[in-house]
Amino acid sequence: MGTMNRKEFLKAAALGTAGVAAAGMLGSVVMASEEKETSFEGKKKFAGIGSVREVTDDIYYVGASEKRTQLFENVYPIPRGVAYNAYVIDDEKTVLIDTVDRSVTGQFFENLQAVLDGRDLDYLIVDHMEPDHSSAISEVLVRYPNAQVVCTMAAKVMINNFFACDITDRAVIVTTGDTLNVGKHTLTFVQAPMVHWPEVMMSYDDVSGTLFSADAFGSFGALNGNLFADEVNFETEWLPDARRYYCNIVGKYGQNVQDVLAAAADIDIRILCPTHGPVWRENLGWILEKYDKWSRYEPEDEAVMIVYGSVYGGTESAANRVAAELSGLGAANVCVYDVSKTHVSELIGEAFRCSHIVLASITYNMGIFTPMKNFLLDLEAHNLQNRTFAFIENGSWSPVSGDLMKEITDRLEGSRYAADKVSFFSSPSAADADALRQLAQAVFASMGDSADSQEEAEEEETSSVKWRCTVCGYIYEGEELPEDYVCPVCGVGPDKFERVEE
Ligand code: FEO
Repeated sequence: MGTMNRKEFLKAAALGTAGVAAAGMLGSVVMASEEKETSFEGKKKFAGIGSVREVTDDIYYVGASEKRTQLFENVYPIPRGVAYNAYVIDDEKTVLIDTVDRSVTGQFFENLQAVLDGRDLDYLIVDHMEPDHSSAISEVLVRYPNAQVVCTMAAKVMINNFFACDITDRAVIVTTGDTLNVGKHTLTFVQAPMVHWPEVMMSYDDVSGTLFSADAFGSFGALNGNLFADEVNFETEWLPDARRYYCNIVGKYGQNVQDVLAAAADIDIRILCPTHGPVWRENLGWILEKYDKWSRYEPEDEAVMIVYGSVYGGTESAANRVAAELSGLGAANVCVYDVSKTHVSELIGEAFRCSHIVLASITYNMGIFTPMKNFLLDLEAHNLQNRTFAFIENGSWSPVSGDLMKEITDRLEGSRYAADKVSFFSSPSAADADALRQLAQAVFASMGDSADSQEEAEEEETSSVKWRCTVCGYIYEGEELPEDYVCPVCGVGPDKFERVEE
């Protein structure tokens, strides 16, 4: 009975013929332990290569996943865990591409040691210096004292800032177009500043057509042995987390992503190796198209998301009425979110997906309900553009949240408005239900190829006239203020109202 050498072992692991192959390999390893013919001497070392996979010839995955951390970057919930990807090119020279977060250094070093199998490490390429990929740099440099660090000048400075680790004597500073030959493989470096940090670069292997893409094309979610996107049901199980990852981590820097996509168009990319989530070796056009759309701030779906902030249920009721009206009109997959219960990172992801956003908020401290305000400011921070909005405001004595929400969405490039806001006191009346129906109709009419109705909505928006009560601040909307009008909040007449100049 023969035994597998190291490369045969890793190749078998890469083929993913799990049960049979694993049983066979385990047998081989046990045999190897007895016969001392391979480097995997016994069960303990077998366990140590738990997450190693072969990506393609000479290229191995040595990263690791974890499911213990609750908040990625201490901000984003990751109930499906997260993977920190690192890769080794095993050529005449040995190359490690990125390291991992400190939470998984144990698994990472076991993987690295197993793949190097006693060889020294010649190069550590730092594509991205953020500590979730660089926390193991210091230890790599100690374990492999001959390794040189290949990185941008910005990364070299940041390594020193973060880790007080001076790599001056070991740094090979590269810039776009520089190459590194390591035997059969030659790596070409492409700087990708602000995708999503300034020091980022990508490394392209000419032999395999592999682009080591740093955070680009990454996703939240732990790898469960399945390394490749074609080994999982990506569209249904991974896409929401991939979108949430992109929009929240990289979303602000759409133009920088567009620049990288333009540069990538001239490269024969056959494999995408990101620093998080699955590796892409099939159907690359699908994920590239998603990135193109997200980074141009174009909605992925012609769909409505309704986000409400409600305390006593009146605003929630109005939001649900609009959802039902939309559904009755034929809008599919309407999504309704309670802004207090849904993590803002999920709302950001959905806002990047949907073409239409209906915002319903109570008035709180004469402002926007705090979680809603946080969401809108986060949308602005992530540079969302080209969405169609509609507003519902509620207030127990002086509703103002609608105009205040619009002040924020006005600052987003390409914002459009499907309808006049609906304003009501405390809980929607039958008359308010009519207004909500009209709002839903206007939103529905603005969907699809209804550019004309979009223009009409914009026209109406610009021609709307507002009157402010100088006593309590209440806003009345209409071309003329009725002569017998009484402020519903403080009871004063029209002589106390002034026209709002916009
Ligand atoms: Fe995964 Fe920007 O670090």
